[in-house]
Amino acid sequence: MSVRDILIHPDPRLKKVCAPVDDITPDLQRLADDMLQTMYEAPGIGLAAPQVGDLRRLIVMDCVKEEGAEPRPMVLFNPEVVWASDETNVYEEGCLSIPDQYADVERPAEVTVRWIDRDGAGQEERFDGLWATCVQHEIDHLNGKLFIDYLKPLKRQLITRKMVKLKRERARL
Ligand code: NI
Repeated sequence: MSVRDILIHPDPRLKKVCAPVDDITPDLQRLADDMLQTMYEAPGIGLAAPQVGDLRRLIVMDCVKEEGAEPRPMVLFNPEVVWASDETNVYEEGCLSIPDQYADVERPAEVTVRWIDRDGAGQEERFDGLWATCVQHEIDHLNGKLFIDYLKPLKRQLITRKMVKLKRERARL
């Protein structure tokens, strides 16, 4: 396994609609394993393939936060929300592609998601709490959408300008 570089917004690859996968090949399993390692190392609770420059429909996540609790690394190919609650939840979201920037985003409080797992088996599960927010945030990535796209234009532009500056500074190192 290896840690991959995480793309920083703005980047055209973060605005693309990703392609569904057919077979779960060893190459895709390796990508998923690399993404999990990259996510844990960051550290983060979710990561989508476009964030490491791969435009296929794959996300990984682990929202177990309790100290000492068993980790739950999840690999989701072709994830789709098949049901969403009317009830909503507001979470302060962040994103590994938008370092150190956080903002409140309102989303359905519960969602049922269908996906193909690392072994190629179909799965379906209902998520709530942080898991629900995280899975929706990551699926958005596969459709070229970032959490700042939910914010007012001025706030979004402010964050984008900060990221442009950050990338310029990093390029100089
Ligand atoms: Ni993100």
